[in-house]
Amino acid sequence: MLFSLRRWRPVLIAAYFIISSATAMSQTPSATRSNAAPSSALTSGGNDIVQSISATGSTTLAKTLLLPNYITLRQLFSTSKVTLFLPSEAAVQQAISDGSLNLTITQNTINVLTYHLIAGIHPINTFNATQFQSSFLRNHTSVKQGNRFQVLGVSLEGSTLQVTNGVVSANVITPNIQCKNGIIHVIDTVLVPPKNAPTTITQIPELATYSNITQNYNLTGVLSSQQATIFAPNNGAWNQLGYFTQPEDIILRDVKYGVVRGVYRSTDLQPGALTSITGQVVKVDRVDGNITINGAQIVHADILTSAGVVHVIDSVMDPTESSAAIDASFSSHYLSTPSMIQGSKSMASIMIIAQQWTAVAIAAIDKEMEGP
Ligand SMILES: *[C@@H]1O[C@H](CO)[C@@H](O)[C@H](O)[C@H]1NC(C)=O
Ligand SMILES: *[C@@H]1O[C@H](CO)[C@@H](O)[C@H](O)[C@H]1NC(C)=O
Ligand SMILES: *[C@@H]1O[C@H](CO)[C@@H](O)[C@H](O)[C@H]1NC(C)=O
Ligand SMILES: *[C@@H]1O[C@H](CO)[C@@H](O)[C@H](O)[C@H]1NC(C)=O
Ligand SMILES: *[C@@H]1O[C@H](CO)[C@@H](O)[C@H](O)[C@H]1NC(C)=O
Ligand SMILES: *[C@@H]1O[C@H](CO)[C@@H](O)[C@H](O)[C@H]1NC(C)=O
Repeated sequence: MLFSLRRWRPVLIAAYFIISSATAMSQTPSATRSNAAPSSALTSGGNDIVQSISATGSTTLAKTLLLPNYITLRQLFSTSKVTLFLPSEAAVQQAISDGSLNLTITQNTINVLTYHLIAGIHPINTFNATQFQSSFLRNHTSVKQGNRFQVLGVSLEGSTLQVTNGVVSANVITPNIQCKNGIIHVIDTVLVPPKNAPTTITQIPELATYSNITQNYNLTGVLSSQQATIFAPNNGAWNQLGYFTQPEDIILRDVKYGVVRGVYRSTDLQPGALTSITGQVVKVDRVDGNITINGAQIVHADILTSAGVVHVIDSVMDPTESSAAIDASFSSHYLSTPSMIQGSKSMASIMIIAQQWTAVAIAAIDKEMEGP
């Protein structure tokens, strides 16, 4: 049984990389493609990514990647065109000492590294606005939205390019290290892949009251809804409401109303309407770059979670207030925005499914082979 499985491994690996390259090409936005440095500059000579990681001085990761458990990741590095946001040696040591990275747990290391990796070759000058890039962290528990998997944010803050999971941001400290088949930007912090919403919320000081309320009222299940956008009022908003004096049903109603179906990061929020998990409508507006939800302003956007995204708002939304009342015609255009449609049966999504299953099959065989 095992013997026959092993024979299929090289075939599966070949299939995985053929599908991956095709998928990566189909996903690379045309603007980025035309903006990227000419491919001749990137393919002529140069080290491969693993050699380059070592050359940047990030020696701990470089050594780790040479271990047998990382063969699939090494093959991914050497056969696909990718952009790697590589944590510096100092960042890796920091993450090891604070427990956010444990290199002795292969799956943990692979999750973290694939979260720093995006398809296509993106020199730093191609990122000129906030955007969310699909990473190679593509397991069954991480958020999936159309063709995009667990995303990381990339934005330009002044002249510094930042990469973020929404809780912690890393600065690019050495950009544009060109490799044979990709490009590396060295960053100063390890980005831990987004965790579930209840855990993520405990890491945001402005949401201390919200976190307390959702725990005390047993609402963590509601916050764990898959493919969800959570509008979470900040501490000031709850104080203003005087939540201590509010009856339980009002608190439950307002928290649930703020949980919306579908993943809408700030770049997706356009004037229109969304549907809450309660079935009621939530109204989105945008004025000079400020985004409001039923009049409540988003004061901290795009805190990524493993199931979607959280935005902090400055007042508690009341579904019975007139700001929430919208006539039905208003809601239709936004709800059908293509990127929000889940499980679109495009060629690209079929390829991604094929890619995932191939990866799962390879991992299963590897696990068998590692076994005693
Ligand atoms: C950002 O890049 C896109 C395409 O790469 C370009 O069309 C756009 O003008 C750029 N914006 C700025 C502000 O440079
Ligand atoms: C890393 O994980 C291993 C295996 O689970 C564990 O024994 C070790 O204590 C962990 N290291 C740290 C620093 O947490
Ligand atoms: C899948 O990814 C999530 C992060 O989004 C991580 O917490 C989880 O451990 C991963 N699952 C597996 C099986 O690696
Ligand atoms: C959270 O709840 C604990 C006890 O349940 C309380 O001591 C603490 O002050 C609360 N914090 C906030 C910000 O509401
Ligand atoms: C939350 O759940 C616990 C245990 O199931 C229960 O004792 C408690 O009364 C619940 N709290 C609320 C506010 O429903
Ligand atoms: C946008 O938000 C900022 C910060 O809350 C505020 O100072 C500014 O007046 C807002 N702009 C508009 C047009 O509402």
